[in-house]
Amino acid sequence: MAHFVYLRNVIKDKHIASIMPTSASGVRKVCSKIDFSKDNVYVEYGPATGIFTNYILQNMTPGSNVILIERNPNFVDVLRQTFSDDRVHIYHDSAEKVADIVLRVSADGADYVLSGIPFSFFNDQMRNEIVRQTYGILREGGKFLPYQTFYQKDRHLYNHIRNIFDTVNDEYFLWNVPPMRIYEAVK
Ligand SMILES: C[S@@+](CC[C@H](N)C(=O)[O-])C[C@H]1O[C@@H](n2cnc3c(N)ncnc32)[C@H](O)[C@@H]1O
Repeated sequence: MAHFVYLRNVIKDKHIASIMPTSASGVRKVCSKIDFSKDNVYVEYGPATGIFTNYILQNMTPGSNVILIERNPNFVDVLRQTFSDDRVHIYHDSAEKVADIVLRVSADGADYVLSGIPFSFFNDQMRNEIVRQTYGILREGGKFLPYQTFYQKDRHLYNHIRNIFDTVNDEYFLWNVPPMRIYEAVK
């Protein structure tokens, strides 16, 4: 079902940037960098049909919250139909609005920001703005966890994160179509 919804929408919206959701092993790999044992505020940029949201909901504590920011209206409809949990906050908006959006849910910011949005499609100003605002809304020790396609150039995202975050690691993950480049930036 998720694959069908993807294909139908990707034809009309190039910013979806992928013809299918992240694989289950890709989701587990990115989420292995999260400490699910405490109450957290999670933010997701570009959740699409909610493949990561599902995993987070199944693993997070009852006191945690998830904020979803998705720019494609059809995916926003799917998310609203799929997640009726009060702890899931769905915004039809773009990631560069994250600072305003997070404040509506959590006055003191977020612990984790996961991101599947295609940074290679954006211009430098937008890349910088999203990374800068992400840093701004993260609590001390919080993590920015973008997952991108493996062929992404450093100038598309890595360099922007390096300019702002104290610690950045990246690695390649082959068990996804296409393979992924996964980043872990710690504030
Ligand atoms: C490659 S898909 C990733 C979807 C999903 N997270 C997954 O892992 O399967 C990229 C998603 O980012 C959304 N998107 C693209 N640009 C965005 C932006 N500036 N702000 C929020 N969402 C955006 C697209 O609509 C699409 O749902």
